[in-house]
Amino acid sequence: MTTEELNDLIRSRRSIYPPEYLDKEIPKDVLETILTNGTYAPNYFRTEPWRFKVLTGEAKNRLGRFLAEAYKANTPPEDFREKKYNKILNKGKKSGAVIAICMKRDPQERPKEWEEMAAVAMAVQNMWLTATQLGIGAYWGTPPAAAKAGKILPLDDGERCLGFFFMGYVENARRPDKRLPLNERVVWLDE
Ligand SMILES: Cc1cc2nc3c(=O)[nH]c(=O)nc-3n(C[C@H](O)[C@H](O)[C@H](O)COP(=O)(O)O)c2cc1C
Repeated sequence: MTTEELNDLIRSRRSIYPPEYLDKEIPKDVLETILTNGTYAPNYFRTEPWRFKVLTGEAKNRLGRFLAEAYKANTPPEDFREKKYNKILNKGKKSGAVIAICMKRDPQERPKEWEEMAAVAMAVQNMWLTATQLGIGAYWGTPPAAAKAGKILPLDDGERCLGFFFMGYVENARRPDKRLPLNERVVWLDE
C-alpha cells in the first residue's frame, strides 16, 4: 500500500448509518478480519481490554428492540416520536452485523480506566478503517442504553459496554471529508 492509498483510506472513512446499508450479509470470515485488526491496537500493560460481542441474525434484531424500547421508556410522552422509535428499531435489522464494543477492566487496575477505554477506541478505529477498505459502512453509536446492555448481552465481571459498532455493505464506503486546517488544531514548539 502506498502512502497515498493509506492517506486516502484514513481520510475517506466516515460514519455511515443503517438506513443506507444494503440487504447483504457480512460473511463470518470478513467479520473475523475486521475483529482481528481491532485486536492489533496498542494497549497499555497488554491487557487487551476489548471484549467484542458479535450480533447477527435474531441477536441484532433483539438489540434494535432493546434500543427502541429504551428510547420509549426514557422519553416523555409529549416528545416521543413514532418515526424515531421505528428508525431505532430497524438499526439492528438493517445492519449486516453489529459488534457490541465492550471493555473489561484489568482486575489489577494497572492501566487507568481511561487508558483502557483509549485502547478500545483505537481497536474501533482499526475495525472502522478495515470495514471501509472492505466496502462496509459503519458507525459507532453510544446510546445511553449501552450502560444497560447487560440486559441483552453476556457481560463478565468488570465488563462494560461502550456502545455498538453498526455495519453494513454500502454502494460506496469511501467518502472523502474535510477537517479543519492544521493550524487551527496544531501548535509547533521548537524551543
Ligand atoms: C466515541 C464515539 C461515539 C459516537 N457516538 C455516536 C452516536 O451515539 N451517534 C451518532 O450518530 N454518531 C456517533 N459517533 C460518530 C460521530 O458522530 C462521527 O464520527 C462524527 O460526526 C464525524 O463523522 P465521521 O465519522 O464521518 O468522520 C460517535 C463517534 C465516536 C468516536
